[in-house]
Order: sequence, then C-alpha cells, then structure tokens
Amino acid sequence: MASICILLILTVPVISIGNAATEDFPNVKCKKETLGLYGRESLLECVVETPYDDTTIRWITWIKASRIVLDVVDKKVIAQEPGYWYDPPSSWTGRRMTVYLRINKTEVKHGGPYEVKVLTDRGHCTDSTTLQVTAKYQKPTITEAKNSNNGRTLVCESGGGFPKGKLLWFDGHKELISSPPMETNQSGNGLFHLRSMLTVGGGSSEANYSCRVFNFSGGREHETHFPVLDSAETQELGQNEGPNLNTKIVAPLVVIGSLIVGLLLLILYRRRSQMARRQSTAPLMGGHLQVPTEDNGGVGASHDP
Ligand SMILES: *[C@@H]1O[C@H](CO)[C@@H](O)[C@H](O)[C@H]1NC(C)=O
Repeated sequence: MASICILLILTVPVISIGNAATEDFPNVKCKKETLGLYGRESLLECVVETPYDDTTIRWITWIKASRIVLDVVDKKVIAQEPGYWYDPPSSWTGRRMTVYLRINKTEVKHGGPYEVKVLTDRGHCTDSTTLQVTAKYQKPTITEAKNSNNGRTLVCESGGGFPKGKLLWFDGHKELISSPPMETNQSGNGLFHLRSMLTVGGGSSEANYSCRVFNFSGGREHETHFPVLDSAETQELGQNEGPNLNTKIVAPLVVIGSLIVGLLLLILYRRRSQMARRQSTAPLMGGHLQVPTEDNGGVGASHDP
C-alpha cells in the first residue's frame, strides 16, 4: 500500500511538475495490517522514502475515522487524542524515515483503519494501515445445572476475548452439539463473553466432556474438562469403591515391590559371594599357579596314557 506523493505547488517550483518523474517524489509505505494485543502497546509505523538525502519532514498527521488523533508540525505536537502518543521519527531528514503512532494501552476501540499524511519540503504523501486488535479468551469455566427433564445441563463460559470466538463441546475427540446455540455478549470495553449449554442425558456416565474456546481465526486457546458421573455412581465410588480401589492398586504394588527388592538382594548376594571367592582364591592361585598346574598337568599327562 504505497502511494506516490503529490507535489505541493506552494513549496516546489512550478517547472518541476512537468519534468519530474513520479519516483522523484517522496512516498510513504505502511504495513497493510498492524497487530495489537489488548491491554498492551501497539505501534503503527510507516516508512517515508525519497531519492534525496536532504528531504525533511515538516508535518505528520495521523487520522482515524476522519478525526485527527495526532498532529505534529515542525517537531511539535499540536493535537493529540487521549490514548495516542507521539514518538519522534527515526530521523527528520534523509532518504528513509520511519514515522510512528503509539498506543500505550490498546483497547478494542483503537482497532480499525488509520491514515497517515506526511508533508516534506519536497511534497506530501499519504498511506493507510489497519490496526487489528486481538484479546485472548480466558480458560472456560463449566458449571452444572439440573434441568426439568431429570437430566443435567452443563454451562460453559469464557470471556475477555476479541474478535468473536467460538465455544465447542467435545466428548473425547468427538464434537458434541450444544443446544441452544452459543450466546454472545459484548461488554462495554468491546470484549466478547461466550456461553454455551450442553444437555447431558443418562447412560453417558463414562464420558469425559470438555469445552474448548477457539479464537476468531479458529485457533484453539483453552480447554476445560468436566468428568460427568451419575450421582449413584459417585456415591458408590465414594463409599464402597473407595477402599476396594485402594487395595486394587496397593496389592499389586506390594507384590511388584517385594519382587524387585528380592531380585536386587539376590544380585547383591551373588556379587558379594563372587567377589569374596575371588579375593580368597586369587592370592593362593597366584602364588601356586605355575607350580601346581604344571605338576598336575605333568602328573595327569603321564598318568593318562
Ligand atoms: C488464534 O490462535 C492462533 C493459534 O494460537 C494464533 O496463531 C492466531 O494469531 C490467533 N488469532 C487471533 C485472531 O487471535
């Protein structure tokens, strides 16, 4: 998105209009899109380029929705909307100068297209950029409500996000259909609050439900699990299954543990006895190694035939 600057008749001699090629004029280029995180600093920047070393910036104006948010003339701020800040350009004179508009604490209302106008002593130019504000959704919460049909309803909620995202229910990897469809509210600061309900029937007590929140571009941001158990089973687990469950886990552990300890002891014992044997026999064998074997060998060899 670059635009060629229009020659200013007031500042430049009239003859140059006919002769000068368009690339002789300064031009300003902005990124098409600037990303801004909610609550953080955003910086819009545009680069002014000219073929002359001595081109000097005289006037910088940033405009949003036909309102001037920052106006700087001859290095002095002459107009400034709250929330918008002035950072001096990378340089005032040269072939390549970057101009800035800073937003200290980005809010949803700061999002949208901006226009920048730069006046130099060689003409003026203009371009635009769009600030895309995003805010991350919070980890969803799941609460449970009894419904009239003796079933249960899970309510998933997540807020603080922007732009509008999505809540989806899953049973493991299988997507579930919520009813009614997701509700969306936008608070005063423009952030979205999402709410989705899932009716849970009987017979699905083994399910591991989860609620996931997806951002505007479909990226998964968070997931919250909710194990749903029948109330009868919950009781059983708490009273009867409890001790059983413990012994079921503890008993094999004791068996495996004692097997391992036994095995270790056996290995240790065999190592020790081997070492003890070596230590006791080595000196004896070493001292009499040659004599007895030769004797035995000689005796044996002479006896055998
Ligand atoms: C959505 O999430 C993905 C993955 O985390 C991320 O790359 C993307 O920038 C996010 N988009 C928005 C609009 O927040």
